[in-house]
Amino acid sequence: MAEASPDCLFCSRLAARLPRGLMGRAFYAFPVVISTQDELRRLGESGAPEGTVVVADHQTGGRGRQRRTWVDQPGSNLLFSLLLRPEMPAAQVPQLTLLAAVATREALIASTRLEIVIRWPNDLLVGRRKLAGILAEASALDDRVSQVILGIGINVNQTTFPELGAEATSLALELGHPLDREMLLEGLLAALDGWYTRCLREGFLGVREAWRQAAVSLGQPVATAGVAGVAEDLDVDGALLVRTGEGRVVRVVAGV
Ligand code: BTN
Repeated sequence: MAEASPDCLFCSRLAARLPRGLMGRAFYAFPVVISTQDELRRLGESGAPEGTVVVADHQTGGRGRQRRTWVDQPGSNLLFSLLLRPEMPAAQVPQLTLLAAVATREALIASTRLEIVIRWPNDLLVGRRKLAGILAEASALDDRVSQVILGIGINVNQTTFPELGAEATSLALELGHPLDREMLLEGLLAALDGWYTRCLREGFLGVREAWRQAAVSLGQPVATAGVAGVAEDLDVDGALLVRTGEGRVVRVVAGV
């Protein structure tokens, strides 16, 4: 496991500012890791409690969905993973990625007032440019979830994206000034806490409604998980309903 260092941006100050809820009740900050997902998976397998957070100033092997890489400029962005232990069947885990998109969007809008939208299943965009991505990695035993590692990467103060060019943006690029990452993380953890607690208590429908309000994908052509067509709606369980060229409606579940 990587060693925490007092020089790390987040190490000493943030712990004192964390919200009092579930998310961040155990908190690990590192200057550099391969991936916060791996650090947190190891902690989870050793019994770390739900709500444990791992944050890093830089990842050397950050990963995204569909085996893509997630590259960051050191000391610029928010890169963190969150440990969940929901009492739910493995089939419902994709709902958590939609929940994370809704909560992350809400927190970022509250801090920046930017117009941020969701692209199926959980990319956050400003205009057509990607601002943030979410990756859920789950372990299950006999169809019950033992842990979900929810990884969130947000482009905060990075202003050039050599690999991605115009496909990517950051909060600093959109606002014209850098932002305080600790303040943002505080708001993000509070929003994730609120949406997660509510979803466990009341079910998925509130997340579904918020996702539908924020999604740019509905009514638009999509090509996802081998299905091409027009995204018509989000089903009550979080599957995307896609109408194909032949007029059939196919359900697509967000991969985790
Ligand atoms: C995507 O859009 O494909 C998902 C990107 C997820 C990136 C975050 S950064 C923190 C966590 N650690 C990783 O290696 N990936 C996630």
